[in-house]
Amino acid sequence: MSDGQPALPLETDRPTPFDPPLGLRRRAPLSRLAYPDGHLGWVATGYDVTRAILADPRFSTRRELLHQPVGRERATEEPSPAEPGIFPHLDPPEHTRYRRLLGHHFGPRRVAELMPAIRRHTERALRDLADGGSPADLVAGFAMPIPALVICELLGVEAEDRQRIQAATSVMNDLDSHPEQAADAVGTITATVRAVLADGRSDGGLLAQAAASGELGDEELTNLGMVLLATGHLPTASMLALGAFVLLTDPVQRARLAVDPGRAVEELLRYLSILQFDVRRTALTAVEIGGQVIAAGETVVLALPLANRDPGHFPDPDTLDLTRSAAGHLAFGHGVHQCLGQHLARAELRVALTALFEHFPDLRLAVPPAEVPTRDRMAVYGVDRLPVSWSTVRTE
Ligand code: HEM
Repeated sequence: MSDGQPALPLETDRPTPFDPPLGLRRRAPLSRLAYPDGHLGWVATGYDVTRAILADPRFSTRRELLHQPVGRERATEEPSPAEPGIFPHLDPPEHTRYRRLLGHHFGPRRVAELMPAIRRHTERALRDLADGGSPADLVAGFAMPIPALVICELLGVEAEDRQRIQAATSVMNDLDSHPEQAADAVGTITATVRAVLADGRSDGGLLAQAAASGELGDEELTNLGMVLLATGHLPTASMLALGAFVLLTDPVQRARLAVDPGRAVEELLRYLSILQFDVRRTALTAVEIGGQVIAAGETVVLALPLANRDPGHFPDPDTLDLTRSAAGHLAFGHGVHQCLGQHLARAELRVALTALFEHFPDLRLAVPPAEVPTRDRMAVYGVDRLPVSWSTVRTE
């Protein structure tokens, strides 16, 4: 606690594994938050204020300005600026240059080209699961491999490297990881990207093309590869696992998935909003917003799970309804940093979730829902394991 202000409530009081903590729900749309390093900042939980902050150039994502809302007390650490290529932590105009370079690699046309690869990796994962027999863990056998293999293919990284990358990004996502562990994880991913660039294995992949363009230096390119590998699979994997989990507990919604998978996926994104507290901004100047003044240097956590459950924007927001329009949800953020991989993520979720329930028509949880371990303290919320069982496999 700092100045009597509450800290971020995490594991304490979720009514269901799919709901944000009640402690946040009870807060005003923009309220004070105590950070572990002693900083007194803010948390935004209202839809309008969250969207306004994300669109406002007076707020920065520069790493050296951001305070961390979860984790060890790191007040003694010297905050350092992001290295070249770590563009999520840069502001325009530096940030704009990277988005311009990368846009077409993640646009709808490129994603359409990747559809056969998404289907191939999905079918393979489902076949392997079936071959391994019931029961099985859907996180290890379905949610993790599909997006990891797709992003490796897009970047030109060999499939054999995906296990190491999966493990390293999980460590990076855990804000309680020891700084040395986190540094090791970054080192693992960086080494993989360097190897890809050095031995020319990446023919046709994004990294090879970016290298050939000559627009980026070596260090920049390596860091860029690291960012894309790290951001490119864990959030999608978490959405796949949590999405499967919620549908396994709700047969009515599950039956609706195949009716309009595009619409269904948007509602799952809104309802589950897995980026729980890592979307942050620091005010560059004093900003009056939502009836409050955020002073220069103060950090705001944009609590997307709460913004996407704001009853002022989404009627009956705590009800999962795959037939509703969730248009305007903030699960991919908003403004200049809005998710680069959103078209890819949507395609993966549509293909993989529908195929899962087609392939295993009587799929069910193998443990009571309360025994599924959730990742409450992770920047990307999700489940560690999802034990499932089945009796029937449909192969066509
Ligand atoms: C940014 C969510 C999948 C790459 C973001 C942001 C959100 C988000 C909320 C905004 C962060 C901010 O404003 O600070 C998600 C979710 C996903 C997903 C929910 C899956 C369901 C992906 C995929 C990629 C990706 C597949 C592929 C590489 C990125 C990158 C950024 C980003 C590079 C930083 C963009 C920037 O700063 O300009 N994502 N993401 N994401 N996402 Fe995703």
